[in-house]
Amino acid sequence: MESVQGFGGLEVGLPAAADCYQLQMTGLGKLRVAVVGAGAAGLCAARHLLSCGETFAPPVVYELTKHVGGTWVYEEKVGAYDNGLPIHSSMYRDLRTNIPKEVMSFPDFPFEEHLPSFVHHTEVRKYLEKYCDHFRLRDHIQFATMVDSVKPVQTNQGWRGLAWDLTTSDGINKSKSVTERFDAVMVCNGHFYDPHIPAIPGLKNFKGMLMHSHNYRNAEPFSGKSVVLLGAGLSGLDIAMELSSVNAKVILSHSQCPLTCPLPKGIQQAPPIKRVLENGMLKFQNGELAKPDIFLFCTGYNFTFPFLDSKLGLQVQEHLVSPLYKFLLPPAFPSLFIVGICRAICPFPHFHCQTQFVLSVLDGTFTLPSCKEMEQDVEVDIAARRGRGVATRHILKLDSEQWAYNDELAHLGGFTALPPYWSNLYESNKVFRARDMLNYKTYHYTVLNEKEWIVRTQHGQPIQNPYAKHK
Ligand SMILES: Cc1cc2nc3c(=O)[nH]c(=O)nc-3n(C[C@H](O)[C@H](O)[C@H](O)COP(=O)(O)OP(=O)(O)OC[C@H]3O[C@@H](n4cnc5c(N)ncnc54)[C@H](O)[C@@H]3O)c2cc1C
Ligand SMILES: NC(=O)c1ccc[n+]([C@@H]2O[C@H](COP(=O)([O-])OP(=O)(O)OC[C@H]3O[C@@H](n4cnc5c(N)ncnc54)[C@H](OP(=O)(O)O)[C@@H]3O)[C@@H](O)[C@H]2O)c1
Ligand SMILES: *[C@@H]1O[C@H](CO)[C@@H](O)[C@H](O)[C@H]1NC(C)=O
Ligand SMILES: *[C@@H]1O[C@H](CO)[C@@H](O)[C@H](O)[C@H]1NC(C)=O
Repeated sequence: MESVQGFGGLEVGLPAAADCYQLQMTGLGKLRVAVVGAGAAGLCAARHLLSCGETFAPPVVYELTKHVGGTWVYEEKVGAYDNGLPIHSSMYRDLRTNIPKEVMSFPDFPFEEHLPSFVHHTEVRKYLEKYCDHFRLRDHIQFATMVDSVKPVQTNQGWRGLAWDLTTSDGINKSKSVTERFDAVMVCNGHFYDPHIPAIPGLKNFKGMLMHSHNYRNAEPFSGKSVVLLGAGLSGLDIAMELSSVNAKVILSHSQCPLTCPLPKGIQQAPPIKRVLENGMLKFQNGELAKPDIFLFCTGYNFTFPFLDSKLGLQVQEHLVSPLYKFLLPPAFPSLFIVGICRAICPFPHFHCQTQFVLSVLDGTFTLPSCKEMEQDVEVDIAARRGRGVATRHILKLDSEQWAYNDELAHLGGFTALPPYWSNLYESNKVFRARDMLNYKTYHYTVLNEKEWIVRTQHGQPIQNPYAKHK
C-alpha cells in the first residue's frame, strides 16, 4: 500500500486498488448497516446511509423507545417507563440549549429562522422529528426494539471477512428475541443516561435525600431547602441556577478553581466532599461540615455498552473507552463504530462529520491503516495527552481540538468540512458563558456569511467577538 503524508502530519494510506474492488468481489451487493438508537446520532447515521443508496442498503435502526430524539424526549416521570425499562432521557422541564442554534444544528438542516438562538428542549425534539421526516427515515426505524447483543462473526463474505450478528428483543421478554446479520454496525446509544455516582466514604450514613441530576426535573420541590450539589459541570451550574430561583440554599461543591463569574443569589462554593460522617454530616475537604436536606450529584454519566461482545476487547475505565481509532472504531474490528463518545464537543455537527467519515471507510474512499498501525496511533495519541498532564477521565474531552478533528475527518473522508464561522461562533459562546453564566442564553446570533457572524444582547446591543482579529 502506498502512503502519503496526511493532514496534521499523519501517515495515511491511499486507497489501494484491491481494497476498492473488495466490495464488488464479495458478491453481496450493497452493504447492510445496523444502527443502534434513534437519537440525534442514530438519525444522522440513517440520513447519510440512506442518501448513499448505490453502496448501502437502507439501514436498519433499532430504537428501544417508541420515539425518535433520545435524550431530547422529555419524560416527566423518573425511574422506569410503564414497561419497567429505565428512563433514558436526562432532560429537565425548563432546560434550554447551551449552544446557539446557529451552530448546534446539523450543517445541512438549520433550525427554523424565527426561533431564538437558545431554544427550549421541546424545540430540539421538534427539530429532530423534522429531520427524521425530511430525510424519510421513519420507515427504517424499528421502535420498541432493544439491541441485546452485537457479536462479530468471521465469514468469507461481508466487509473484510467480518460480519455482525445483532440480537434484539422488546427489552422485556428475551425469549422473543430475533437475530439478524449485518456488514457493519453504528453504535449510537447515547452517553448521558447511566448516572455516575462517585464512591464517597461513608455515603450510606447520609440521612437526607440522595439524588442524581439524571432524575432532576424541576426546581419547585427544592424551594426553601438546603442542598449540597456536587460537581460544577454544565448540569451542576445550570441546576444550581434553577434552585437559586426558588430560594433553595445551595452549596456548590466542586474540584475546579473557585468560579469568579457572578453566581446566582444563595449559592456558596465549597471544595469536594471528603466523606460522610457516622452522624450523617457531609465533611468537605477543607474540614467544614454540612447537613443538607438534599445531596444532589451532578457528577456526570458512565459510558455503557451492555450489548457489546467482550471479544471486542474494548476497555471502559475512568470515563475512557479504548482502543478506538479516531475515537470511533476498535482497530481489530474495523466495521463497528461508536459514534459520539467524545466530550466537550458540539454534538450534532460532530455526529455529522463522524458519520460521513464512517461511510468513507465502508465505501472505500478512505482506506484504514493496518490494525497494528491503528493500535499504535491510539497509543501514541493517548500517551501524548497523558504527557500534557491530562487525567485519564478527561482524555475523551476534545474541547477546542474538536475543530481540527472534524476537519481531519473531512479531509480523510473527502467530504465537505464545516463552514469557517462554526468554530469561531461556538468558541465565542463558551467565552460568553464563562463571563456571564446568568445571561449568555439571552444573546442572539446572526450568521452573515461563511466566515462572519454577529451577536447582540436581548436589548439589541452588539457584543464584541472575543476572537475577532484586531484591525
Ligand atoms: C441534560 C442534557 C442537556 C444537553 N444539552 C445540550 C445542548 O444544549 N446542546 C447540544 O447540542 N447537546 C446537548 N446535550 C447533549 C446530547 O446528549 C446530544 O445533543 C444528543 O442528544 C446525543 O445524541 P445521541 O444520539 O448520541 O444520544 P441519545 O439522545 O441519548 O439517544 C440514544 C438513543 O439510543 C436508544 N438506545 C440506547 N440503548 C439502546 C439499545 N440497547 N437498543 C436500542 N436503542 C437503544 C435510546 O433509547 C435513545 O433513543 C445535552 C445532554 C443532556 C443530558
Ligand atoms: N443545555 C444545557 O444547559 C445543559 C445543562 C446540563 C447539561 N448539559 C449537557 O449535558 C451533558 C452532561 O453534563 P454533566 O454536567 O451532567 O456531566 P459532565 O460534563 O460529565 O460533568 C460532571 C462534573 O462532575 C464533576 N465530578 C465528578 N465526580 C466528582 C467528585 N467526586 N467531586 C467533584 N466533582 C466531581 C466532574 O469533574 P471532573 O471532570 O474533574 O471529574 C465534572 O465537572 C454535557 O454534554 C452538557 O453540555 C447541557
Ligand atoms: C415470552 O415470549 C414467549 C414466546 O413468545 C412466550 O411463550 C412467553 O409466554 C412470554 N413470556 C412472558 C412473561 O410474556
Ligand atoms: C460506573 O460508575 C460507578 C459509580 O457510579 C463506578 O463504581 C463504576 O466503576 C463505573 N463503571 C464503569 C464501567 O465505568
